[in-house]
Amino acid sequence: MRVFVAGASGAIGTRLVPQLIDRGHEVIGTFRSPGKAEHLRALGAQAIALDLLDAGAVRTAVLDAKPDAIVHQATALADARFGRNLDRTFAPTNRLRIEGTDALLAAAGETGVRRFVAQSFANYRYAREGGPVKTENDPLDPAPPATTRETAAAMRHLDEAVTAAGGIALRYGGFYAAANDGLVKPVRKRRFPIIGDGGGILSWVHLEDAAAATVLALEHDGAGIYNIVDDEPAPMCEWLPVLANALGAKTPRHIPLWLARLVGGKDITLLTEARGASNAKAKRELGWAPRYPSWRRGFSAAYASSTLTDGRSTADLDPRTGYSPS
Ligand SMILES: NC(=O)c1ccc[n+]([C@@H]2O[C@H](COP(=O)([O-])OP(=O)(O)OC[C@H]3O[C@@H](n4cnc5c(N)ncnc54)[C@H](OP(=O)(O)O)[C@@H]3O)[C@@H](O)[C@H]2O)c1
Repeated sequence: MRVFVAGASGAIGTRLVPQLIDRGHEVIGTFRSPGKAEHLRALGAQAIALDLLDAGAVRTAVLDAKPDAIVHQATALADARFGRNLDRTFAPTNRLRIEGTDALLAAAGETGVRRFVAQSFANYRYAREGGPVKTENDPLDPAPPATTRETAAAMRHLDEAVTAAGGIALRYGGFYAAANDGLVKPVRKRRFPIIGDGGGILSWVHLEDAAAATVLALEHDGAGIYNIVDDEPAPMCEWLPVLANALGAKTPRHIPLWLARLVGGKDITLLTEARGASNAKAKRELGWAPRYPSWRRGFSAAYASSTLTDGRSTADLDPRTGYSPS
């Protein structure tokens, strides 16, 4: 297939492009920041500059490219500052999820593109009640905290618009293994504490696994929503110390919820009440199996800078066992 990847130069896009090419697909990849074209070409894609918020330019780019499939992986979170108001941080990304999605879908409709896959998110979205792990059929939070409502609405728009058009929305877990992962610096500096009892649950996914699921979704018939997360949704009190250890950082501090609310605003309870996501549907229907089934191995494979005594990187270890495959 000729695959048009919007946001090909980003954290997941740069993992996705080589995997698509390995599967025999041809890739037209878009970037926005100057200087990214070279990297995309080196990965084997045809590189085009595109602002997804310019609907006319999106239409022209898609018409010119004549793709069989479109993947939307554009977000604007690089160097994002997370303060008391999540909607402020996510405002440019929310526009990409609403206006960017609509522009791509319109162009897809006009050119008869058969397959459409877009990036959505699994964490902090499911209703904060009942069991700890949610499937795609479970209800979304009906009353997201006030400072997160626009962000929740943008993701809901993307999910609904894409599936209504016959496409697939992938609700990824928290990405890790990119050079610009947002948590790395604060965890290294011991500025990311365990809040309250640390019971809020998160689902993670290694970027290589997220990209592999995306390829499978593109090759899958029919509309749908899929959680793309690893096998082990876990509370913050479990994953954060393991992440700190993988990063060579000191053990994270604990702060009581009242203090976290004072500093981070009352909506920080989203972190302590969050539910995780199940990947059963993606495994069953897409035939996806994560190479890193748990962040326990994944974090150390992604971040350990250490080199083994025989010269190999820890990233070469078997992700399931932590032992060398050879
Ligand atoms: N599920 C998750 O946990 C999740 C989701 C999203 C992002 N993140 C993380 O956040 C960090 C920063 O991410 P990021 O959002 O900057 O994503 P990124 O993955 O670095 O980049 C996203 C892509 O969107 C493109 N883009 C941005 N604005 C655009 C626009 N107006 N029109 C067209 N394309 C546009 C970027 O182009 P250029 O490269 O040319 O700027 C890039 O190709 C990464 O570590 C990433 O892993 C995590």
